[in-house]
Amino acid sequence: MKQTVLVSGGAGYIGSHTTVELIEAGFNVVVIDNLSNSEASALDGVRQITGKDFPFEVVDCCDKAALEEVFKKYEFDSVIHFAAFKAVGESVAEPLKYYGNNLNSFCNIIELMNKYGRHNVLFSSSATVYGEPEELPVTEQSMRQPATSPYGNTKQMCEDILRDCVKAYNKDGNGLKGIALRYFNPIGAHPSALIGELPRGVPNNLVPFITQTAAGVRECLSVFGDDYDTPDGSCQRDYIDVVDLAKAHVVAIKRLVDGKNKANYEIFNIGTGRAVSVLELVNAFEKVNNLKLNYKIAPRRAGDVTAIWADPTQANNELGWKAERTVEETLASAWAWEKHVRGIE
Ligand code: UFG
Repeated sequence: MKQTVLVSGGAGYIGSHTTVELIEAGFNVVVIDNLSNSEASALDGVRQITGKDFPFEVVDCCDKAALEEVFKKYEFDSVIHFAAFKAVGESVAEPLKYYGNNLNSFCNIIELMNKYGRHNVLFSSSATVYGEPEELPVTEQSMRQPATSPYGNTKQMCEDILRDCVKAYNKDGNGLKGIALRYFNPIGAHPSALIGELPRGVPNNLVPFITQTAAGVRECLSVFGDDYDTPDGSCQRDYIDVVDLAKAHVVAIKRLVDGKNKANYEIFNIGTGRAVSVLELVNAFEKVNNLKLNYKIAPRRAGDVTAIWADPTQANNELGWKAERTVEETLASAWAWEKHVRGIE
């Protein structure tokens, strides 16, 4: 029998790519999204890529009554919870918006999973939980550092909520099981260029800013700092292709469904294990897409860590998952998507 997965936040950037990979791996999906930071048209892209239709409901996970209707209406065994606010700067300005939304929505999901006997949950965590790491690359055993933003704090708190709930609600081995995937820096788009990242307003993240600059929507990219203690002075990150990241969700859900998990709560780093600097990424983007990018060196951005990249060994060995696309392929896909969005030939 086909397994069914509820995907919350399925119209968003990572949610839409994961929905494609779930369908292509043979899962049924039910998508919910409140469309607060996404467009329903992303799901048309998913339908076009997969050739499959699936149920979609506009539901806010903070609305427990509406969420409960979804649990009553559909027979799913697993939940992938993407639905959350994700802008670091906004979370500093409006902390209650982040605590209220990101914590309540996850608590509602878990409460209803218990009530309706749905046992497998994946949580979208982030490398942000490591803060400024003491050792590189970071492993899942590396210490979490105090969060530097309310956004980061919600990621840490949701991990802890999951850990505690699994302990409390799975005493006989037949209850709640969860995996937190700690994403490094997701970038790129589906190779079809039918879905991708759709930031509203001025992008905060590097790659959407690069592609919008190349498209002429932004005048000039600011490289935030060239005086860090790194080989070229700019910050280093682990840029993970969004399709590779989406595939990690499929294998993680299968692990739970098949009962292959080694503990009822597990954590995996989802990254490439490669450190790439901002300037390296800009150069690679120019080279692979054969264009010149207008950029300048600007002061450091407050709150940025100098360098972070993953040790993905645990995901490689336990999930049998490995990042496959090269950074060049990913940057080409990001540009193809931006051109699609802007109608550029
Ligand atoms: N950067 C620039 N110019 C820009 C935008 C970014 O130089 O216009 C640089 C940043 O300074 C940083 C790198 O590009 O060195 C990556 O920045 P992003 O904003 O793309 O990503 P971050 O590493 O800051 O963000 C990631 C995740 C967030 C998470 C955050 C926590 O994408 O979800 O880490 O630090 F919250």
